[in-house]
Amino acid sequence: MKSFKPNKKIKDNAYVGSIEKYNEIYDYSIKNPEGFWAEQAERITWFKKWNKVWNWDFDKADISWYEGAELNACYNCVDRHVDNGYGNEIALIWEGNDSSESKKLSYNNLLTEVQLAANSLKSLGVEKGDRVCIYMQMIPELTIALLACARIGAVHSVVFGAFSPDSLESRINDSECKVLVTQDTGVRGTKNDIPMKANADKAVKNTPSIEKILVVKRTGSPVEMEPSRDVWWHEAIASADSTCEPEIMNAEDPLFILYTSGSTGKPKGVMHTTGGYMVYTSTTHHYIFDYKPGEIYWCTADIGWITGHSYIVYGPMANRAVTVMFEGVPNYPDYGRFWEIVEKHKVNIFYTAPTALRALMKEGDDWPKKYNLESLRLLGTVGEPIKEPEWMWYHSIIGNQKCPIVDTWWQTETGGIMITPLPGVTETKPGSATRPFFGVLPELVDDDGNVLEGNNVEGNLVMQRPWPSIMRTVYGDHKRFFDTYFSRFPGKYFSGDGCKRDENGYYWITGRVDDVIIVSGHNLGTAEIEGSIGGHPDVAEAAVVGYPHDIKGNSIYAFVTLRTGREITENTRTEIAKIVRADIGPHATPEKIQFTEGLPKTRSGKIMRRILRNIASDNIDDLGDISTLADPSVVESLVNNRI
Ligand code: WTA
Repeated sequence: MKSFKPNKKIKDNAYVGSIEKYNEIYDYSIKNPEGFWAEQAERITWFKKWNKVWNWDFDKADISWYEGAELNACYNCVDRHVDNGYGNEIALIWEGNDSSESKKLSYNNLLTEVQLAANSLKSLGVEKGDRVCIYMQMIPELTIALLACARIGAVHSVVFGAFSPDSLESRINDSECKVLVTQDTGVRGTKNDIPMKANADKAVKNTPSIEKILVVKRTGSPVEMEPSRDVWWHEAIASADSTCEPEIMNAEDPLFILYTSGSTGKPKGVMHTTGGYMVYTSTTHHYIFDYKPGEIYWCTADIGWITGHSYIVYGPMANRAVTVMFEGVPNYPDYGRFWEIVEKHKVNIFYTAPTALRALMKEGDDWPKKYNLESLRLLGTVGEPIKEPEWMWYHSIIGNQKCPIVDTWWQTETGGIMITPLPGVTETKPGSATRPFFGVLPELVDDDGNVLEGNNVEGNLVMQRPWPSIMRTVYGDHKRFFDTYFSRFPGKYFSGDGCKRDENGYYWITGRVDDVIIVSGHNLGTAEIEGSIGGHPDVAEAAVVGYPHDIKGNSIYAFVTLRTGREITENTRTEIAKIVRADIGPHATPEKIQFTEGLPKTRSGKIMRRILRNIASDNIDDLGDISTLADPSVVESLVNNRI
């Protein structure tokens, strides 16, 4: 098993800096959670302090943090930095789809823009507590819109810009948004006229709650404007008042709703509140990214997802970071785009998803090697288990073996990072998210809820107690909140993930629990088999699912993408089977291996196993909903070439 010790230079300068210190702070945070979280809360500026740090009862799915306290999230991300004399420092570096376009906004600029936008929303009738839906691409006004909502106490509900009109409609209706903020059209990769406003128009045909649409002019492409309903952003701000006092919010007032898909069809409106979320995102951003003033920090996620909310906007901005926001995609105009941006803006901290790394790794080392990546100091990943080959590629080719990699495990529901290495502290092992963050108390339980003590165990990942940014409810459906997260293992928060704890007490996420395949009575994690297949030098990516087998119960079907330019030889299948057999055991050997150009993925890069399971099981007449796929055309070729 490979492992990597913290590099001395990082260690000497890190906030925590040694495993002993981590253990000491961690123990304190667990033994005295209220003391610990009261101290961490000092990084936020409060208008009024709390009466009680926490109150919770998992049996009722009732959780509150910093009750009685008052604050404003936008004030914490913008105003106070200006008040403290940092107004001229850069807050946001925006990089356009094409390298010819980029923009820098200082904290002063941001304060001006946010107040204008906040007053524009007010002039459209938005009041404290109202929901505002935001449906945009990655343009600066998106960040401004979030902060403007937070400033006036409106609850934002961001819907990822690639969602269809139908998805937008159902999300707007679920939370009864009053105003929709969008843009004329969008540019992303080779797409230069994504019909955002036209999609919005289709959606709002059936959304009675929407009174106004605020439209940013991004491309200038003609769009229809309904005069009694639609307002141009630039016109609204031109006539808006320039000052807008931040609303005084209670710590438990909602900050935002963000939809996430569940095991059933209807997406859940995950609701986060203000105080605990701000404390947790800023604390985790500080320690995990070890952010030092002036550093350039780039999280490549889209603000349409939780990672963008917590680690492009709220966490970094509360910490007065310079945060990069990118409109485009990693492979446009070519596979060097990420690295070109790293070189151009001298990015120090880079946070991305394993799926992006795999896509880039597949194209070879020449792209990153064309650029100067010396500025990079720390790398991070999120979203799915990272496997050894891409971890090693990230470590050696991108990080030049000198950057710590933080593999951060968390969820939309958790609001912030929960299990992660700390730079300069944790000896990392490729594929492991390692240890819990301060205040986080994970536990592994078997399917009957029995606690699995000690090391070398594998089970369901639960949390024994809340942390400040845990979601507070499913919007409009508290029962669903309780049922989904607190009923399976009473008294505990159930993540829905499987996990093992190794001989060193490190956590390894094995994937969603529903991704476990039982073959001849053996529990097999799809992630584990995929990791093993990925060990074959020609393999770029693999996804395995179970399909019914008369004798074993289930058998394994592997969908495998080879690296560009690699040929399938008559030996490839046997070689892969051999590797899996050697890594895990004969019971894990895929019975069928189908080579494919691509895998069915959601727009956030998650493989939709349900579809693969259906293909593998020959259920091709009922593949289920494929409308949320990034590229639905891969399905047809998978079906036609199934084994
Ligand atoms: C998975 C994203 C392994 C996990 C922030 C989780 C991970 C789900 C990791 C949440 C990681 C996220 N290693 N698996 N570092 N990070 N996951 O809500 O299954 O989009 O439950 O939040 O992604 O996805 P979500």
